[in-house]
Amino acid sequence: LKKVQLFESLNDEQLQHILSIANKQIFSTGSVLFHENEPGAAFYVLLKGSIKIFTRGSSGEEKVLSLIGAGESFGELSLIDGRPRSASAQAVEPSTVLTVTAKPFLELLRHHFDITHHIMTELCRRLRDTNQHVYDLTFLDARTRVLKNLILLANRHGSRIGNKITIRIPLNYDELAQMAGVPKQALSQVLRDLEDRLILSSGSNEYTLDLSRLNG
Ligand code: CMP
Repeated sequence: LKKVQLFESLNDEQLQHILSIANKQIFSTGSVLFHENEPGAAFYVLLKGSIKIFTRGSSGEEKVLSLIGAGESFGELSLIDGRPRSASAQAVEPSTVLTVTAKPFLELLRHHFDITHHIMTELCRRLRDTNQHVYDLTFLDARTRVLKNLILLANRHGSRIGNKITIRIPLNYDELAQMAGVPKQALSQVLRDLEDRLILSSGSNEYTLDLSRLNG
């Protein structure tokens, strides 16, 4: 628990309190943690694995809004504003979460300003990312959108050695294309082009960006 940034300001006794109000749950790949529009029952902290946050269009097509990595949290919106879940959450690899139900979660926010501040900062980041995504969809071409989406994921989840950032993205091409807001065919084309220019190398679900080759 000490490795979770949200709780980094807490002492051992306070961490014990968190453990006493939290439940640990394990989800296999493909399990849905909750659906969009359901009433929100709990706040989630991801200890291990990856969770896809997504919404669906009227004919069932998916739009991936975000990929949550270990140490990050989600599911706070409906507990804070009392409205239904704004999106669905699904495990895209075996995942372990801590859940805290609404009442103890709101108590936690009331008593620990550091936790409240952390959650507010996270909400700010999401709003900024969403504004950026709206900008990208409005003003940028497909190639730049794919590249910027990879850079966003790299900054959040990647590990950097020198000029190279490696990211493991447990999403298929359909999901990655929806996330960047481009057709799947455009995604494949752009990835191939980036590989030809040695900006990108990719293995199964793993992508390495060479920042030194990015200019231009
Ligand atoms: P909630 O609405 O309770 O349930 C869905 C959760 O997904 C939501 O809380 C947020 O934690 C998360 N979420 C919703 N939209 C986004 C987004 N655009 N980016 C990142 N996370 C999101």
